[in-house]
Amino acid sequence: MSYRCFGATNCCKGDTTTTTNNNNPGQTKAQEIATDNVKLFSYNSLRSATRNFHPSNRIGAGGFGIVYKGVLRDGTLVAVKSLSVESKQGKDGFVTEIRVISNIKHPNLLELIGCCVEDNNRILIYEYMENNSLSTALLGSKGKHIAMGWATRAAICLGIANGLAFLHEEAEPHVVHRDIKASNVLLDGNLQPKIGDFGLAKLFPDNVTHLSTRVAGTIGYLAPEYALLGQLTKKADIYSFGVLVLEIISGRSSSKVAFGEDLLVLVEWTWKLWKEERPLDIVDPELTEYPEKEVMRFMKVALFCTQAAANQRPNMKQVVKMLSKDVNLNDKAITEPGVYRTHTSKHSGGGSSVETSSSHKNKSKQSLDVPANSIYFDSSEEMLPR
Ligand SMILES: Nc1ncnc2c1ncn2[C@@H]1O[C@H](COP(=O)(O)OP(=O)(O)OP(=O)(O)O)[C@@H](O)[C@H]1O
Ligand SMILES: [Mg+2]
Repeated sequence: MSYRCFGATNCCKGDTTTTTNNNNPGQTKAQEIATDNVKLFSYNSLRSATRNFHPSNRIGAGGFGIVYKGVLRDGTLVAVKSLSVESKQGKDGFVTEIRVISNIKHPNLLELIGCCVEDNNRILIYEYMENNSLSTALLGSKGKHIAMGWATRAAICLGIANGLAFLHEEAEPHVVHRDIKASNVLLDGNLQPKIGDFGLAKLFPDNVTHLSTRVAGTIGYLAPEYALLGQLTKKADIYSFGVLVLEIISGRSSSKVAFGEDLLVLVEWTWKLWKEERPLDIVDPELTEYPEKEVMRFMKVALFCTQAAANQRPNMKQVVKMLSKDVNLNDKAITEPGVYRTHTSKHSGGGSSVETSSSHKNKSKQSLDVPANSIYFDSSEEMLPR
């Protein structure tokens, strides 16, 4: 194992005596982290990189704290995520995030360059992504909006699918992300997507269904079984991925926009249009030209992913195949989506109480078995290997 020290005191390679200080929890953590191949930064080096965390360097803020743009001494641009120290939950998430990310590398996963664990400071240093998040670029206000044609959107969907498939199937140990959403997809200079934020991710051994103690995802992306019952499986990520694909097709945010008189959420709206046999009505009006057959295929994949019955959803490897191959998908196998929502709707009598239901009772047959690959494909299509 190796690590490099960037101006931090007491934590350089081989200096185990200075990193071991049981009276100082920060130092103990530094030693643990050092064994995970993470570069350690001093607080001072990050202060100069971000011009003393100057407000004009601020690029965003989320549940863990503020994100700043920084320039390292060698000129490398970085995103510096400073954890708000008051949050105990945040600290735990920080340590988890470091351990998980440090050894997981994939072109569609945001690289964690290093961290700072000096005194009370808990800071993550990521590669800087020039085009910000998918949320800002695709769903954000006009000033920051980036026009994207279908080819770009399709490549983004496939890139996210590849990154998530890697987390689910290849990473050791396998990882459930728990907060797949547009703001956790960052875009590089070529609009290639990278999934960020593993702070909510948990180590996930094969064939184990976790029951989480708290729901960590974001409203608008939450699989109903996770939101209501706390059942955390890869299938909850796959649900969120399906929602994300619908956002990319429609250019609309699932957590902000309500559709029609009934204030339907994006998934419900898509399902309504699907039943009315006019699914392409959800397509972003900004997309003046697009290949209808391919967009339909992506929409079907999204609908497979957001089905109420978690065990009917495909796994991410199947999703990657469905998105990347020009195959005919089996419409008839798609069952109704599950929805968890909190906003006011006519369904909830106009009150402001939390509505926590699967908006459409799932009348479809629910098999306890994981569906074979063939269920997603027209019978004429080649069967996929498992
Ligand atoms: N590596 C990065 N490069 C460029 N911008 C980034 C990077 N990481 C984060 N950002 C920007 O900072 C914003 C905040 O990110 P952050 O992950 O803290 O919050 P969030 O994703 O909105 O919510 P959550 O805390 O639930 O993940 C992002 O939406 C994005 O605009
Ligand atoms: Mg985030």
